[in-house]
Amino acid sequence: MGDDLASVMLTEAQIQDRLRELAAEIDADYAGQDLLLVGVLKGAVMVMADLARALHHPAEMDWMAVSSYGSGTKSSGVVRILKDLDRDITGRNVLIVEDIVDSGLTLSWLQSNLRSRGPASVSICTLLRKPAAAKVEVEVRYVGFDIDPEFVVGYGLDYAEKYRNLPFVGTLAPHVYS
Ligand code: PRP
Ligand code: MN
Ligand code: MG
Repeated sequence: MGDDLASVMLTEAQIQDRLRELAAEIDADYAGQDLLLVGVLKGAVMVMADLARALHHPAEMDWMAVSSYGSGTKSSGVVRILKDLDRDITGRNVLIVEDIVDSGLTLSWLQSNLRSRGPASVSICTLLRKPAAAKVEVEVRYVGFDIDPEFVVGYGLDYAEKYRNLPFVGTLAPHVYS
């Protein structure tokens, strides 16, 4: 696996430090209020696990799995729900937890889908965002790191389902995907 990575972009310590900062902001912003964290499978598993444990807020957790229709590896913006939330979110404060906002198409669709269900609020927290890759504007309340539009893997992010279990975020060597 070592030969497949070109560089380490974010170390385990950098990720954990930033998640603790975001958790402190979330704790302050939602103090005394209801909070439901919604993780987007599968990429968000690591962020959700570490962010949730850094919170002092007694937040609840639920999960969705979505899949982009369309050919190729890029999301098309047409999204299909593979696993929906277990519970109704009417009147709830929902915080979507993601690993990355790339084109923004997944989050844009998901945010409007959840908003149509009558929640009190829907906000987004993402570890990574690629501003240069944005195809639609998505308002993200909590961003860990803005990064260049390189192919990154690790800490939940996959290439063909691999590398999700790396504890850091790295760039993939071109020979792996070319
Ligand atoms: C990835 C990532 C985000 C989405 C971002 O998920 O985890 O959910 O793509 O891309 P976008 O901003 O261009 O829509 P993916 O569909 O690869 O599924 P996964 O989380 O199971 O890897
Ligand atoms: Mn995902
Ligand atoms: Mg993926």
